[in-house]
Amino acid sequence: MDSSRRLEDVLSMQGGEDDVSYAKNSHGPAAALASSKPMLTSAIHSIKLTKGCSSHLKIADLGCAVGDNTFSTVDTVVEVLRHKLTLINGKSDQPEPELEVFFSDLPSNDFNTLFRSLEEKVNSSSQKYFAAGVPGSFYRRLFPKGELHVVVTMSALQWLSQIPEKVMEKGSKTWNKGRVWIQGTEGEVVEAYAEQADKDLVQFLQCRKEEIVEGGVLFMLMGGRPSGLVSQVSDHDSRLKYLFTTLMDQAWQDLVDEGLIEEEKRDGFNIPVYLRNTEEIASAIDRCGGFKIEKMEVLKITDPMNVKHQELMRDPQSYGRAMSNMVQAGLKPIIEAYLGPDLTRKLFDRYAIRAAASNEFIKKFSFYYMIAVSAIRV
Ligand SMILES: C[S@@+](CC[C@H](N)C(=O)[O-])C[C@H]1O[C@@H](n2cnc3c(N)ncnc32)[C@H](O)[C@@H]1O
Repeated sequence: MDSSRRLEDVLSMQGGEDDVSYAKNSHGPAAALASSKPMLTSAIHSIKLTKGCSSHLKIADLGCAVGDNTFSTVDTVVEVLRHKLTLINGKSDQPEPELEVFFSDLPSNDFNTLFRSLEEKVNSSSQKYFAAGVPGSFYRRLFPKGELHVVVTMSALQWLSQIPEKVMEKGSKTWNKGRVWIQGTEGEVVEAYAEQADKDLVQFLQCRKEEIVEGGVLFMLMGGRPSGLVSQVSDHDSRLKYLFTTLMDQAWQDLVDEGLIEEEKRDGFNIPVYLRNTEEIASAIDRCGGFKIEKMEVLKITDPMNVKHQELMRDPQSYGRAMSNMVQAGLKPIIEAYLGPDLTRKLFDRYAIRAAASNEFIKKFSFYYMIAVSAIRV
């Protein structure tokens, strides 16, 4: 991004429903949701509500994006919460509890597509709820005090609020030269990211501490890494690493080599993602206070595209395009804000060519780690 634009003004997943959209390229996060569903279910069962307060409950999905994942998360929460309420209230003549769901994301999220599909989704669901959209960063307050009963945030907290200032200082030790992400870079750059990630998570928790009622549930699923893993990515030599770091760096280098951008322009772009380990998360929760961790689990997610990759690879061009679409679904909006549309298209054309030529990596099965945490507001 140019330095006058804040990340939160431009960050979003690619909207719409075409081949580059997040809605069409969110199989990875969908697999993470499926894997964390049993833990989410038991997290909601651990909610502590008194009889009187269970007639109108409020749920928030922070970093909801748009697409099937958005609705499947909310459907799970609503269904399990209704079941739990039946257990608490017993069979009574009272009217059904009313549930209100807040879909929240940064303002640049494609809320139009979300709202357009909402009516159909809510009406086709047997678990009806009232819905509202809440634009804003989850690193700030989004709701009044003591308002929410269940807060979930799925595959979103690995996104930082900003690139650490130190990493933007040209010529410094923390200037991330030659790369667009922190995998394999100098320790100082990773440390700057780790500091930012810690500050952000504490900030996130402090806001939720205000907003969630006592006894309410906070469920966080985020890209992470197990304790003791120094590398940001799980399988060091994996296709996943290759797609988000190696191929990206090569495509940016192509733009530099072709004289389309200066090296410095490339060096000034960084992907604002940090994968925390379990200690980093537990420590932030501990320092914030106000939450009791019910459970924290490292989930190993097998890339659901493993089989599809093999099929696509029979036609390298379409494989390259498919990989480029997948990466664009998450990164195109922030790259476009930095490079403009023309250079962004050129970058991803180079990316698709690089991916089409990368058949040695296709043979690798890839996995990644997510960390799921369920906590109760105490
Ligand atoms: C990978 S998507 C996950 C979407 C969805 N929850 C899922 O499970 O598929 C991450 C989402 O987090 C949102 N996000 C990132 N930083 C955010 C912030 N500071 N505040 C609110 N949302 C944010 C992004 O805009 C994006 O929609």
